[in-house]
Amino acid sequence: MSSRNLNTLSTDSLLSSTPTINKEEPIIGIDLGTTYSCVSIFKNNISSILENKNGKRTTPSIITCKENEILIGQAAENSMYTLSNFTIKDSKRFIGKFFHDPKVQKDIKYLSVKIIEDPYTKRPQYYIKHENQEARLFSPIDVAYLLLKDIKTFSEERIGGKIKKAVITVPAHFNNLQREETIEAAKKAGLEVYKIINEPTAAAIAYGYENPNVNERLVLIFDLGGGTFDVSIVKIKGNEYTVLASEGEEHLGGEDITQRLTDYALNIFKKKNNFENVDFYNQNNIKEYKVLQRIKKSSEEVKIQLSFAETVQYDIDSLYKEKDFNYEIKQSTLNEICNDLFNICIKKVDETLKKLNLTEDNIDEVVLVGGSCRIPKIKEMLIKKFSEKKVLKNINADEVIAQGAALIPFFGSKINDNIFLKQGKINEITSLSIGIEIANYKMEVIIKKGTLLPKINEKKSFNKTFKTQSKTSKNVLIKIFEGEGEYVWENHLLGKFTVSGFNNDNIIELEMILDHNSIITVIGKIKGEKEQKLIISKSDFYDEIEVKNYEEKLKFIKESREKIRQIFPDK
Ligand SMILES: Nc1ncnc2c1ncn2[C@@H]1O[C@H](COP(=O)(O)OP(=O)(O)OP(=O)(O)O)[C@@H](O)[C@H]1O
Ligand SMILES: [Mg+2]
Repeated sequence: MSSRNLNTLSTDSLLSSTPTINKEEPIIGIDLGTTYSCVSIFKNNISSILENKNGKRTTPSIITCKENEILIGQAAENSMYTLSNFTIKDSKRFIGKFFHDPKVQKDIKYLSVKIIEDPYTKRPQYYIKHENQEARLFSPIDVAYLLLKDIKTFSEERIGGKIKKAVITVPAHFNNLQREETIEAAKKAGLEVYKIINEPTAAAIAYGYENPNVNERLVLIFDLGGGTFDVSIVKIKGNEYTVLASEGEEHLGGEDITQRLTDYALNIFKKKNNFENVDFYNQNNIKEYKVLQRIKKSSEEVKIQLSFAETVQYDIDSLYKEKDFNYEIKQSTLNEICNDLFNICIKKVDETLKKLNLTEDNIDEVVLVGGSCRIPKIKEMLIKKFSEKKVLKNINADEVIAQGAALIPFFGSKINDNIFLKQGKINEITSLSIGIEIANYKMEVIIKKGTLLPKINEKKSFNKTFKTQSKTSKNVLIKIFEGEGEYVWENHLLGKFTVSGFNNDNIIELEMILDHNSIITVIGKIKGEKEQKLIISKSDFYDEIEVKNYEEKLKFIKESREKIRQIFPDK
């Protein structure tokens, strides 16, 4: 074996193989949401929602770990507040994330359940400990697995048969690792993933199917859910769907709005009662932390009521040291404290339009998806921008994504008799750029954001040949990043590999393979050498030094930005 070490950056599972399907076999479409999940099946030419055991059409994405059993979904919702220390919700926010990610740290502040750092993988782990019992750890993959298992079980009961395959939706801005971990959770739950599809694309498909029109139209999907925000512009021409552009924030949704309201209400309570020096955010202060939890619970309810009423009352008895919290809040106050969040949504809409050189006039319809679109201010801003007529509010914002997902296997497929779907076509694009680190910490893009994804069971290859600048070292480290930043530290490290035994005459050949789920595999090779594949395990992806220095890195970015600003005031 040569001393040269060439690794692929993927695990075996990365390049998704699509399961074959036959006509009789059921395939469900799952919208695995941050706060609620929904499941649908296509039968007799309609995509029908499968209700859970309680007859509900959406199921809370929650698990509660009791001493001797784990409650999942609907069952967990009921004990969410009584057993809040043992209840895991919004776990989708942590999938594919590192413990030290500032966004993870920010979210942890509000959680009633304890989260620790897995010392080996550097990932967040839920820590559940009942008295006189050993502690149990749950990773975000474990939580997704339990939720999917529950969905699979109740769906099987509904249809009276086994289900082995599913289409699962993810936010358009989910990165490689987040997509990969979703597939891993599904596999654990006994579900083969037919396809991972972006949530706004699934919504566009369901919308187009329900509202057929031969004319070409441009539809803007505005999806503001519990944890994520996506905006996509999709061209629908008959039964062909082409995603033209997609922007978004993988960490912006109803949860952030509730957190803003929680902070606001807590501050009012503190000021009113002279509790300004009390730390209500410290998980170790059990009594005080409970206060934060109770305000958060009320804030979620208040937020929803504020979508239907101008003013709503907080009424919490004996909240802390026998002080009640009675406070009337106005819809306009909610709008004020969330103004910047709402503006980000509109800014993303502008960016998406600009990218395609379009204006509001070019958009034919705006489809509102996700529970947070019920907020009056959001609707008002969109109507102001696009006109009342274009903003469609009659669509079922909670179900449309799952309905679209259930249609996917029938697109362009021989297994169905539905001509519309049989001749249908979906053209999806990548939401993030993929590239390598070059000199001066810059990123060179190899797969550009917006690249058309290959069709199911096909792959696209991107090649790059280069010489490195190393004069002395025999080892060349190649780092692969994902994101839009000019510098690598602004982006997400996807993986890395070392070419050893290198000399300066060598040329490195890099191949990036993109699959239909927007997941990539990278293969490195020295020109003229036989390719050696050394699959590295997933834990090798985690760059300890990178993660440990996260805070320093952020500080460095801030400082260098400041320096640039001083030299070039316009930048
Ligand atoms: N009437 C309402 N007013 C304001 N917010 C609402 C209303 N109804 C639901 N929400 C919010 O919508 C969110 C849930 O929406 P949805 O079910 O679409 O999200 P999800 O699919 O779970 O999340 P994501 O798509 O981000 O993963 C919650 O944050 C909830 O508080
Ligand atoms: Mg959603």
